[in-house]
Amino acid sequence: MIEKTDALPLARTAALEARARKVIPCVTQTASKRPDAYAPGRFPTYIARGQGSHVWDVDGNEYIDCLMALGPVLLGYCYPPVDRAIAEQLARGIVFSRPTALEVEVAELLVEMVPGAEAVRFLKGGAEANSAALRMARAYTGREVVLICGYRGWHDQWAVLRNSPGIPHALSSLTDGFAMNDLSSLERALEAHPGQVAAVMIDPVARYAPELGFLEGTLELAHRHGALLIFDEIVTGFRLARGGAQEHYGVQADMAVYAKAIANGMPLAAVTGPRDVVAAGNAISLTYGDEALSLAAAKATLTAQLREDVSGHIWRVGRALVKGLAEAIDATGAPFELGAIPPMPSFVETETFQGEPLSEADRRRAWVFLLAELARRGVITRRNTTLLPSYSHTDDDVAHVVAAFGEAFADLVQLLRTGSLADRVADSPEPSFRRL
Ligand SMILES: Cc1ncc(COP(=O)(O)O)c(C=O)c1O
Repeated sequence: MIEKTDALPLARTAALEARARKVIPCVTQTASKRPDAYAPGRFPTYIARGQGSHVWDVDGNEYIDCLMALGPVLLGYCYPPVDRAIAEQLARGIVFSRPTALEVEVAELLVEMVPGAEAVRFLKGGAEANSAALRMARAYTGREVVLICGYRGWHDQWAVLRNSPGIPHALSSLTDGFAMNDLSSLERALEAHPGQVAAVMIDPVARYAPELGFLEGTLELAHRHGALLIFDEIVTGFRLARGGAQEHYGVQADMAVYAKAIANGMPLAAVTGPRDVVAAGNAISLTYGDEALSLAAAKATLTAQLREDVSGHIWRVGRALVKGLAEAIDATGAPFELGAIPPMPSFVETETFQGEPLSEADRRRAWVFLLAELARRGVITRRNTTLLPSYSHTDDDVAHVVAAFGEAFADLVQLLRTGSLADRVADSPEPSFRRL
């Protein structure tokens, strides 16, 4: 049982953060992990180790992790069969001058599990795998434009819609966006680029679940305009079902992209699709595509999926979490709402409290307060996020998380009612990284 503390001891955290700020301008490499978007001084930054669904920070504080490394750790930290597979491969070697049998074995497993997968390419990260899928689609269709809904990663092609500095303007004419659950916005985007769209790319579930018929409609519209439909299954893959969102929703895209949960945290990504489409990207080449530790982890992770009902457990845990949090929100009137689906529920702020608008500053303060209160009760989450339960989360974990949220909600609501939140939380962090 994790005990509630009055104030988290975070001396080592503070010292490391100070050192990081001198040598890493963004403090840490993943935007969603940057400390300023949490509760500075009252929230862990550096993790020392994990086990199952729990992690310990560098100051020795223990937490239940509701994010699981932002999705990759689907089975749990230090999941024995995966760690054993990595250790055994480590004793043999990491990467060689020639491929290993693992590359063939993991590709065969994916072909067995993923709808529509005849052929597979391996990459290292989600943005990279999305870029590879787009290269294949462009080569296959002879077209250049891509239409995207949702976050695809940091690469220029994806970040051009976010106006990040350093991206050539020329790319913006090749990328257009459309909105989730709005087929007419996709139709307009397709009509704006007649005969030019190589691919329509979407993550089937993000902050919102797809409405009935939306994914089918996306497929139909893409095909009517001669474009391929690519599902970014980087979060949904292996989480919603063994065959990801394609299996869960019964909609088969032309290609699918996997990354996060494929190797329980080791850096591996994959693009799957028909043989001729995947072969159109044969010029794609990377030194680490056949790196054997990640492939050994993927083999063990996918084998666990074939033997055990991993996604069934994640649905059950997710349902219990959603039920408990929804009841806590109802009971307290806290300004938050849940969305999407139980294996990946979104947990976001509302713009009003008791029928009155909440200022942006108060919404930020509410998050700082909530995150700090959750951390001292041993729970890690982040602002406006998707909660990502794992195969290792237990009923006790859910009960603890729900109780922690309930207490923190009640205290927050009291502060909002009395107009004293700003007295308790003077600071307000930078807006957290949002996946558009
Ligand atoms: C749906 C989706 N696509 C792509 C990416 C990018 O993956 P990576 O950060 O591994 O490049 C992410 C990362 O969060 C994601 O959630």
